[in-house]
Amino acid sequence: MDMDIEIYLRPPEMETPPYPPKVITLATGKPMVVRQVDRDAVPILLNAVKPTLDIERDYYDIVGARVYAELLGWYRYRVRDEFCLIGQIDGLLVGIVNTRSYSPTVDVSLHTLAIERGLRIGAHLFAAKMEYSIEYLGRDEVLITAESPIGFRRWMIEYGLEKRDGQHELGGATPYALTRALYFRNKDRLVAGERPVPPELMEVAEREIIVASEDDILEKILGAKRRVTQ
Ligand SMILES: CC(C)(COP(=O)(O)OP(=O)(O)OC[C@H]1O[C@@H](n2cnc3c(N)ncnc32)[C@H](O)[C@@H]1OP(=O)(O)O)[C@@H](O)C(=O)NCCC(=O)NCCS
Repeated sequence: MDMDIEIYLRPPEMETPPYPPKVITLATGKPMVVRQVDRDAVPILLNAVKPTLDIERDYYDIVGARVYAELLGWYRYRVRDEFCLIGQIDGLLVGIVNTRSYSPTVDVSLHTLAIERGLRIGAHLFAAKMEYSIEYLGRDEVLITAESPIGFRRWMIEYGLEKRDGQHELGGATPYALTRALYFRNKDRLVAGERPVPPELMEVAEREIIVASEDDILEKILGAKRRVTQ
């Protein structure tokens, strides 16, 4: 690699404290470990995102394509100040969220992708990335948009987000803000999980990020509808 030019291409990075992992007990009683991953995990995560590119249902295709580009951009040092949290059940990857810091006071929420459906895994992971931005990175607010009706219900309506002027980084869509005050007003209701994660659960999560097969991912996301229509 020609590092002489590469140093001009790489955006600068802020120093950030880590996100402390937590465990959330899902409605099934299963524990989901939520933890931060670094760049090294990206190639594995991309394997899980790839099958979503063909799923029109619930806008998985556009969200998947954008997540793919954002993660690859981070991996290849072409996105500034991105972080990524994942959810794992018994090591299996069930969801991905990412955010980009715009400044020391404002974060821009990028995406939430749930691979396992019907358990509010996406909602829990979204809450976790808001927790990181507000409580650990100390941001004043997070700018959010939605690409799907489920996303709009989960974020804008469940949190009562504040509509803002201007354009969100994601295609210029209308930005909505989760302020510190709004976050703490919603925290007891929407931000779940316990710390520390028991060592045996953490060991399983860190040992391997298991990605379901492409067929299993399609089945998990499309559920019964796929069996009827395909
Ligand atoms: C938005 C998203 C993250 C929410 O994840 P979530 O909180 O885990 O919620 P789910 O997607 O599992 O479920 C949403 C609703 O659809 C229902 N649902 C849809 N497909 C389902 C399936 N295959 N199996 C079970 N339930 C399903 C759920 O019962 C749920 O109903 P509820 O709102 O009454 O609880 C997730 O739907 C997703 O990844 N969507 C595609 C990408 C996207 O839109 N991301 C957000 C961009 S703003």
